[in-house]
Amino acid sequence: MALFEWSEELSVGVSEMDLHHRKLFDIMNSLHEATQNDNADTAVLPIIEKMLSYTKYHFDKEEQLMTTANYTGLPAQKAAHQAFIAKLEEFKAQASMEKMAIFVVTKLNTTGGEWLKQHIKVMDKQYVKFMHDAGIN
Ligand SMILES: [Fe+2]
Repeated sequence: MALFEWSEELSVGVSEMDLHHRKLFDIMNSLHEATQNDNADTAVLPIIEKMLSYTKYHFDKEEQLMTTANYTGLPAQKAAHQAFIAKLEEFKAQASMEKMAIFVVTKLNTTGGEWLKQHIKVMDKQYVKFMHDAGIN
């Protein structure tokens, strides 16, 4: 069983965003799988880099849609997004250090995975009505 499962309760009613969120969970799962490899130390860093670049791509796109929808919670979302990116940058720096990869993945799985789920459930869900009112589905 995958560590992170996307389910309907995490749907934000915008198909492209749901797709992005699922992809983020997929990357988190591949990170977890990489720790099972013999070469975990070298396998982990590229996946963290992928997580970072995909997260940036997703947040940019999500913020663009929120702007289009005139979403009033945009500043709070931007701040939350920036804080998460900073956290990922920190994990990336730590994972670059020798023998740190597995430790970083454990932290990312617990803090990062939980953050994502909570962020989607609490903050992202609040933009649903604004998006739908703007015809974004
Ligand atoms: Fe968000």
